[in-house]
Amino acid sequence: MSSNPIFYGSHITKIFGDHTALDDVSFTVRQGMTLGVVGESGSGKSTLGKISLRLLHPNNGDIYFQGYPIWGMTPTQIREMRLHVQLIPQDPKNALNPAKTVWQSLCFHMAAQKVERRRWRDVAVDSLAKVALGPEYLEAYPAELSGGQAQRIAIARAISSRPDVLVCDEAVSSLDKSVQAQVLNVLCRLQQEMGLSLFFITHDLNVVDYMCDDVLVLNNGHVVESGNTREILDHPQDAYTRELLTAKEGAIREVES
Ligand SMILES: Nc1ncnc2c1ncn2[C@@H]1O[C@H](COP(=O)(O)OP(=O)(O)OP(=O)(O)O)[C@@H](O)[C@H]1O
Ligand SMILES: [Mg+2]
Repeated sequence: MSSNPIFYGSHITKIFGDHTALDDVSFTVRQGMTLGVVGESGSGKSTLGKISLRLLHPNNGDIYFQGYPIWGMTPTQIREMRLHVQLIPQDPKNALNPAKTVWQSLCFHMAAQKVERRRWRDVAVDSLAKVALGPEYLEAYPAELSGGQAQRIAIARAISSRPDVLVCDEAVSSLDKSVQAQVLNVLCRLQQEMGLSLFFITHDLNVVDYMCDDVLVLNNGHVVESGNTREILDHPQDAYTRELLTAKEGAIREVES
């Protein structure tokens, strides 16, 4: 598998008032691979995600998509980038308009993403099939969906514009453990089928262990360590990573007991 960087951040600093949320953070998402960004609440994960989606301006540094700095792009390049880098939100029910059917939400997205109108029906049915949902879900309203179904619809919506990178911010945190596994499996399968690269924000090292080729550990806006997931989980060099691992082991024991 290729290991070219498709999406990376270089020396990102973000300061809110007198609080430094991110301090000189760099990361790399390799083509077709998953980078996990892990850390406790308030460590700066979502701030990094928002900067990566060009929703929040960094004080220093830039994010590069296919080699182009996203904060230096022309409006045309920004529109193009938005086709290729999509968000999977934490709370899919809030992210779907409650007054619109799944079909209407997908059409709104496809129109914004410049999918040709004559292809909408085929793309919508195909995107639902990719997340293991039948075409009957096109007529459903968000209130009629379970959390797992809503998250799969949010994924279907994101992949309808054939993106290269999915930024997932706590994409399974609001789901029960068994439904989490279903959604993670859908993402893994899509990654293989579509060659997607995932920027996967989570506070859960079990999810990192399951999903991520590489991991970046954030503590209070600082990178404490980064690299191959297996090496870092098996041989953590930093005390903070060891603390997170202890919490992970504790969580597993709670589930087992
Ligand atoms: N818009 C903002 N204005 C001021 N401070 C902010 C803003 N957004 C985030 N922060 C602060 O930056 C820090 C990092 O926040 P962030 O949301 O990135 O953390 P997080 O790692 O995603 O946490 P969680 O796991 O709880 O989602 C926090 O101290 C937060 O209070
Ligand atoms: Mg967050």
